[in-house]
Amino acid sequence: MHDISPKVVRTGTLLEFKNSGRKFSALTSYDSLTSGIFDEAGIDVLLVGDSAADNVLGYETTLPITVDEMIPFGRAVSRAASRALVVVDMPFGSYESGPEEALQNAIKIMKLSGASAVKLEGGIRSVSQIRALVTAGIPVMAHIGFTPQSVHSLSGAKVQGRGDGAQEVIDDALAVQEAGAFSVVLELVPATLATQVSKMLEIPTIGIGAGAGTDGQILVWTDFAGLYPGKPRKFVKQYAGLREILLEAAAQYRQDVSESTFPASDNSHE
Ligand code: KIV
Repeated sequence: MHDISPKVVRTGTLLEFKNSGRKFSALTSYDSLTSGIFDEAGIDVLLVGDSAADNVLGYETTLPITVDEMIPFGRAVSRAASRALVVVDMPFGSYESGPEEALQNAIKIMKLSGASAVKLEGGIRSVSQIRALVTAGIPVMAHIGFTPQSVHSLSGAKVQGRGDGAQEVIDDALAVQEAGAFSVVLELVPATLATQVSKMLEIPTIGIGAGAGTDGQILVWTDFAGLYPGKPRKFVKQYAGLREILLEAAAQYRQDVSESTFPASDNSHE
């Protein structure tokens, strides 16, 4: 494996990356095997996204997943990652009521998952929660633009910040930085706006569907690996075709079993 530095990625490392112009990579991950692979490949940040809801648990949206369901995913990823910064998403319903609820749930996630930071959605509306967590020593990654936990009020996964909406994204970005977030995800915003926000902010930005001008990029690992059938969304690049590979492998295995060519003598004990 090529040389990957630094040996351990911490929250402050992302700022060093930004200041030195080194673009960083992030993937979602929910289990120890894939995390180990991504960590070995030098992916800088592993996000235990609440997208585990749709990618692992089979829900339609991220809304149903709970703190108690997120923790085992977080623990599995933290155990497997020796270099990457591990961040766990705060699920819908775990922080919206206010700073006190946010703090209790963030403490639980940090204690039980072994992660180094949490992520929560919302700009201006989440400022008091971000402040409470940061004051308690919990690093917070913010998430603005399209925020999947608000999929119903936003009427679907739509680009945010076009036209007059740009100012709202800028105000949100400045607010989360001011509240103490160490980085911010910009999801589904026009590339020119994401570039402008990334230049404006001192903290690192991480784009998904936000063009090439952010300080880092994140993809949902099942998207990047091609596990979904059909055409991927515009902002996704499939780096592998795992769905086809698994489909062919499973069909071959079924056939081998039905024809009694598996197990062969090599796969059998004397
Ligand atoms: O949960 C998730 O996968 C995320 C990414 C879309 C950034 O929040």
